[in-house]
Amino acid sequence: MYILGINAVFHESAACLLENGKILASAEEERFNRIKHGKPANLDNPDELPWQAIQYCLDSAGVELKQIGHIGYSFNPRIKSNPLFTEEYKDDEDLLEKTLLHIPEKLKEIGFQGEFHWVNHHTAHAASAYYVSPFQDAAILVVDGTAESSSTSFFSAKNNQLKLLQEILYPASLGALWELFSVFLGFDGYDAAKVMGLAAYGNPNRYAEHFKQIVRMVPNGQFEMDNELLHVETIEYYPPSGYFQGLEELFSIKNREPGQAFTPAHQDIAASLQAITDDIVLDMTQHLYQLVQSDNLCLAGGVALNCVSNTVAFEKGPFTHLFVQPAAHDGGTALGSAFYIWNHVLGNEPREQMTHAYLGPSFTDSDMDNILQKHQLIYKRTDNIEKEVAQLISENNIVGFFQGRMELGPRALGNRSLLADPRHPNMREIFNLKVKHREYFRPLAPSVLHEEANNWFTITKETSAAEFMLMAYPVKPSMKEKIPAVVHVDGTSRVQRVKKEANPRYHQLISEFYRISGVPIVLNTSFNDSEPIVCTPQDAINTFLATEIDYLAMGNFLVSKADNR
Ligand SMILES: [Fe+2]
Repeated sequence: MYILGINAVFHESAACLLENGKILASAEEERFNRIKHGKPANLDNPDELPWQAIQYCLDSAGVELKQIGHIGYSFNPRIKSNPLFTEEYKDDEDLLEKTLLHIPEKLKEIGFQGEFHWVNHHTAHAASAYYVSPFQDAAILVVDGTAESSSTSFFSAKNNQLKLLQEILYPASLGALWELFSVFLGFDGYDAAKVMGLAAYGNPNRYAEHFKQIVRMVPNGQFEMDNELLHVETIEYYPPSGYFQGLEELFSIKNREPGQAFTPAHQDIAASLQAITDDIVLDMTQHLYQLVQSDNLCLAGGVALNCVSNTVAFEKGPFTHLFVQPAAHDGGTALGSAFYIWNHVLGNEPREQMTHAYLGPSFTDSDMDNILQKHQLIYKRTDNIEKEVAQLISENNIVGFFQGRMELGPRALGNRSLLADPRHPNMREIFNLKVKHREYFRPLAPSVLHEEANNWFTITKETSAAEFMLMAYPVKPSMKEKIPAVVHVDGTSRVQRVKKEANPRYHQLISEFYRISGVPIVLNTSFNDSEPIVCTPQDAINTFLATEIDYLAMGNFLVSKADNR
């Protein structure tokens, strides 16, 4: 039995295909169509389905749409928005509903004969974490921008059944708050990760009282937001809407325009936002622990990509075990919808654990050979790419590492990565010169051998979330000076722990680097410049040729920039 999950509402369009409860494939549309986030987050386009991602899923199983038994779409037009909020947005809601409602018919027209399911958006998020976690019972917290009506949902799960316990209605929304402040600070609405990086430079106390005016924690894990002042619904993803009167008065500064210098005030606002988010997420997990008799916590929703809040909520909170869906953003709801149908709706017992995120396309050596030849590149085939790349990294080269199946989710985890030496104090400047232009405050991440991680980082509670670059750990003081390129200004790192069984080639590469350098860590950042992370060999070659990346290690082939100028 094949089940296809689709996300296409707003953004991060994605598809996922299950066969009898096993994940065959899952990927985000942006990697194929090369448009960041797949498409604009508009109300009139939730029927723009991720056709290329869907086709990739079908091809990977060698099936056609008519063989799919069930399709789940991770949004439910039958749920109405928060009535206190939507009166003046009724036309918008009608448009969204109208556009959604013809999707089942559209799928039928092109051959789908199975059963179509609307899956509540947060249920899809919750399912994306719980059904692939190692837990039989769990408490699940979903925190994102907005769903049909809520921004935050508390679930319990037992015996393969999910139960919604409590919600916080939009426009009170941590996700929306981060989008709003991203724009206020001169980024675009998708740049929460930049704000998170900037936060480490600031003083979280300076604007703590200001933030208490905007966001109030109230009993039972709830929070309220001053929407008279914030107007979160007016925020546009690109570019800044300029509608910040309330915030400008509150903070006594103008919003930062893109390109303007960063001041201490910008850093302090980011730091205070991070601090209040940490407090709220911790408070919500504590409340959830009271509601649900379980030691197991699952997190999903875009806010669960915040490594700092995840670490605070888990390490300071009451839960013993944590699983975070690596595609915690909306891209993961395709997978969640499919599992919700398989386990919850159809009542199937077997469960698959997600021990890695390598669910996207892969390419054969002959695919790569052909395309390298087509570009008339000088390259060589090697029997030990891991060892050669480790040596090149240790000689201060930046290497594009393109291997195996592409990762699901926003983090490159060693298959579509740019790798470098973490010991080099000026690596950020070298990256900025050669490849991508990352602001001074954006951390570069370490990939560490799983078995060595505790020697380098202070990890209070073990969690697989660290395998997906979703936790921020303090670097041990004695180790900081050995890996300056991957230590953030606050002394932490956004770690990826690499298990041999999850990615043998990447583990081998880091092991080789360990032998050469005495450091079981490489610097890992995503293989792209400003476009979506590379998907195909063609994308990898495009980025390699358009930048000053020193080497491209693609499958067993090694290409040097110096040979191909
Ligand atoms: Fe979402």
